[in-house]
Amino acid sequence: ALTWAPAVPPSDLEEFGVAAATVGGLKVALYAVDGEYYATADLCTHGAASLADGFLDGELIECPLHQGTFNVKTGAAVGAPCSVAVRTFPVKLEGGLLHVGLP
Ligand code: FES
Repeated sequence: ALTWAPAVPPSDLEEFGVAAATVGGLKVALYAVDGEYYATADLCTHGAASLADGFLDGELIECPLHQGTFNVKTGAAVGAPCSVAVRTFPVKLEGGLLHVGLP
């Protein structure tokens, strides 16, 4: 079963569509796309960069370090130099807070 860990209020995502949170000792990035919420591991799979510091364009997050991209819904690496998928996590809104589902 998943453990739902409280992360951030949805208002944290209003300005840039993306925010960082630490849940269960894991740093994640949360995203808002068309009124739905998504989460991935925050660490880029290409290097030591925080995806939450990147630029969200639709459902793609662009890494701030080398501008590789991932699809935030699937975690798929879609733009070079990224080639390894980033882990994704389910998100739900409960009690005014986004919660991240951890295995
Ligand atoms: Fe993210 Fe290189 S560290 S693209």
